[in-house]
Amino acid sequence: MTKLIINENLFIGSGGHQATYVHPIDATKCIKIPHSPDDGDVRKEMRYRQICAGKLARSRLVTEFFGTVETNLGLGYVFERVIDYDGKTSRDMKKFLPTTKPDAATLQQIWTVLLTFKSDFLRENIAIVDTDIENFMVQETAPEVFRVRIVDNIGTPVLIPLVYWFDFAAAWKARRYWNRIVAWLAQSYPLLVTPEFAAQLKT
Ligand SMILES: Nc1ncnc2c1ncn2[C@@H]1O[C@H](COP(=O)(O)OP(=O)(O)O)[C@@H](O)[C@H]1O
Ligand SMILES: [Mg+2]
Repeated sequence: MTKLIINENLFIGSGGHQATYVHPIDATKCIKIPHSPDDGDVRKEMRYRQICAGKLARSRLVTEFFGTVETNLGLGYVFERVIDYDGKTSRDMKKFLPTTKPDAATLQQIWTVLLTFKSDFLRENIAIVDTDIENFMVQETAPEVFRVRIVDNIGTPVLIPLVYWFDFAAAWKARRYWNRIVAWLAQSYPLLVTPEFAAQLKT
């Protein structure tokens, strides 16, 4: 079988579990190469995608998965690549959120992004494992039009994943995680997520 050749020019980013590259023959996709072939987080995500395939196919938040490919760097997992309207890879939320006080218009824009994320997240009740905002990308689909996408750390490590089978369990868990995200944002970005806005963002 021929292998796809990935080189370092295609590198997008890397976290604790996998390195992400632009797909060498389809720039609308990316390929993730796990640092270890038997990575627990990758297995967890694949189990979630298998059991909840229908729900995730309808998701606005979660990127589409296209199966695996052989590459020169080992087995790769092919996903939709999160890109802006101009074709550039979108920023993750950590890069999107300013650490200094933004002007009023920018602050309003950030609040809109977070409120839209809230309504998407609590409608889709996606199972996530932590509140690391580097796994949320902010996609600029048209100039000044933003949409949050979840690219990593979905699923649950528990043996009996009730949240996969029961909507009420998924909803309950999603609300808990959402409030955890809001609390983390309020603590880490006090200039953006003020106490008043946090109260509005919480569920
Ligand atoms: N679907 C995607 N489209 C574009 N960039 C992505 C995508 N998924 C991940 N990335 C980038 O690659 C980085 C590492 O990928 P990620 O799946 O978060 O790996 P890890 O499990 O190691 O944290 C992310 O922080 C992000 O910058
Ligand atoms: Mg990550």
